[in-house]
Amino acid sequence: MKKPVYKNLFKPLKLDGLRLKNRITMAPLYLGYAAMGGKVSPLLLHYYREMAKSGAAMIMVENASITTNGSGSPRTIKCDHNRYLSGLEKLASTIKGEKSLAGLQINHAGRFAYVSDPVAPSAVPTFERIPRALTKKEITTIQKQFANAALRVKKAGFDLAELHGGTGYLLSQFVSPRTNKRTDTYGGPIANRIKFPMEVLKRVKDVVGDFPVGYRFLVDEWLPDGLHIKESAILAKSLEKEGIAYISTMGGTYESFFLPEIIKKSKKPGYMVSLAAAIKKEVSVPIIAAGRISTPARAESILADKKADLIGLARMLWVDPEWPKKARKGDDRSILKCSPKCDACLQLVMQGKPAYCPKWSKEKRAVYRELFQ
Ligand SMILES: Cc1cc2nc3c(=O)[nH]c(=O)nc-3n(C[C@H](O)[C@H](O)[C@H](O)COP(=O)(O)O)c2cc1C
Repeated sequence: MKKPVYKNLFKPLKLDGLRLKNRITMAPLYLGYAAMGGKVSPLLLHYYREMAKSGAAMIMVENASITTNGSGSPRTIKCDHNRYLSGLEKLASTIKGEKSLAGLQINHAGRFAYVSDPVAPSAVPTFERIPRALTKKEITTIQKQFANAALRVKKAGFDLAELHGGTGYLLSQFVSPRTNKRTDTYGGPIANRIKFPMEVLKRVKDVVGDFPVGYRFLVDEWLPDGLHIKESAILAKSLEKEGIAYISTMGGTYESFFLPEIIKKSKKPGYMVSLAAAIKKEVSVPIIAAGRISTPARAESILADKKADLIGLARMLWVDPEWPKKARKGDDRSILKCSPKCDACLQLVMQGKPAYCPKWSKEKRAVYRELFQ
């Protein structure tokens, strides 16, 4: 095989006992392809087969709920009962069958859960709903649910699990000074606010043993009274100490994503790379950068400049699953680019329709439509 044009992008990496064949990973991307109720569906398998075939070293499957009360939508994958194991096994083996490492992200959506009685660290209103503050007993139950879900990820045959500490979901709600107003040992100074995610990680590691666990990491909430790098760096260091396999960085939550200045910022290429670089300065575990890394040349320079160790592609890989193969040849120009002006995928997902990209061929769209249940 010819030598790759971008040498940093195609350099293998050892990650907590796993070997990544290159620096390209898929960042989790929920598109509403699971069946209603959260079972693995034929469309979900088709989607992840395409992603794994791309040649990316590692595919991190979108968020899967650890309990019904923490589920983000009716089509969120479920990982809260052994009845979901056979579907999850198929998903893991589909990805691994294409010679990519397979991971599953596990999550509790907390105050953003798609339920009538959401729970959160504190009763801080969001989008006109007031979540109920968790009791200490419920906190322990949720920690056990994370551990049980992680064990299912391992049993299903995935290579690793990822804790979803991004997007403003429950793990990050505890870390944020805006959403955690508790007066017990889980609230107050940052050392207390990181207690919940750190205990979750410990419980998870206790049950999964020698099995890599990564973390989707909220660096900055992009809200004036929210979580910022000064405090999130403290969590990053603690995660490193407890043996996290990698930190996958991101910014923003549902409460900042749709602010005009954030919409503008998130249309820019590499809009979250500075967050990755800031965390990389604080720890030595591998760091993933994501966010409109649309060209291999940009990805290569992020790695060469040591702003991150791995490149996370979400929509960028979904729009053109040939991205890694074209990158290998240095053929940046033929990559189908996700247009910053377009939000068709989001609109379709929000309407409960199968997401497709307007850049796809008619035939490809038809396959996705046909497989949707
Ligand atoms: C429709 C949609 C669904 C997403 N689902 C998830 C998810 O399940 N878990 C997660 O950690 N991030 C999720 N993200 C964030 C992506 O992983 C990624 O950080 C973001 O889309 C920027 O990367 P990109 O420009 O390559 O898409 C989602 C983003 C979008 C647009």
